[in-house]
Amino acid sequence: MKIVMLGAPGAGKGTQAEKIAAEYGLPHISTGDIFRKNIKEGTDLGKEAKGYMDAGKLVPDELTVRMLLDRVSGDDCRGGYILDGFPRTIPQAEALDGELKKLGEDIDFAIDVEVPDENIVKRMSGRRACPKCGATYHLEFIPPKKEGICDECGAELTIRDDDKPETVKKRLDVYHDQTQPLIEFYEKKGVLHTVDGTADVSDVFEAIKNILK
Ligand code: AP5
Ligand code: MG
Repeated sequence: MKIVMLGAPGAGKGTQAEKIAAEYGLPHISTGDIFRKNIKEGTDLGKEAKGYMDAGKLVPDELTVRMLLDRVSGDDCRGGYILDGFPRTIPQAEALDGELKKLGEDIDFAIDVEVPDENIVKRMSGRRACPKCGATYHLEFIPPKKEGICDECGAELTIRDDDKPETVKKRLDVYHDQTQPLIEFYEKKGVLHTVDGTADVSDVFEAIKNILK
């Protein structure tokens, strides 16, 4: 099963992708997480991506597509995967499609998590993330059991560099301009499903499970 998560920054793609991954035993592939890992490790890829990310812009397609196609060619992806944050532009979606076509495969589900822009800034300002295992929390909506500490692995939670309100606004503009057209792209392929991302995390997850079953 190959799943693409669509939705604005902060819609809850990562939160839901993590739950789907655990439920169905599929790898969760977040291009944002891969870039952040590279930044932390100081790799060339990380150095190149950081400037774009901190400005709320997209990392160039060429670099992103190469990285993603390499990742999905891994052995653990043979039974499918969940893509979170990729594709984000029509050229990225076309590159993925072209590669899948060579294998006689296709995306099975594109799930659009819908959240209006008004809710997004509030979600981002309260987001805390675990730099070690990638778990995501929210100060108000999904607080960790112990303040500032990850429930899963005990590491200290951090604020993402691109979660400043000005950067979030820029990311939303980029989303509407470059990523939203993917909704129509996947609708035309007949694999688009929409869920209301303003509901509770568990209700959003129930809605997604109903789609996948
Ligand atoms: P990326 O890491 O993908 O960021 P994003 O798409 O902006 O999405 P977020 O991770 O911010 O949000 P999310 O939808 O995962 O929400 P979350 O579950 O955390 O990309 C970062 C940057 O990397 C990009 O700007 C770009 O520069 C670069 N990049 C990445 N991929 C790229 C690509 N393909 N091409 C080019 N560049 C790329 O939830 C948000 C908050 O809300 C959390 O605090 C969470 O706890 C809370 N929350 C979640 N669900 C709910 C709910 N139902 N109710 C209440 N609170 C909730
Ligand atoms: Mg995310």
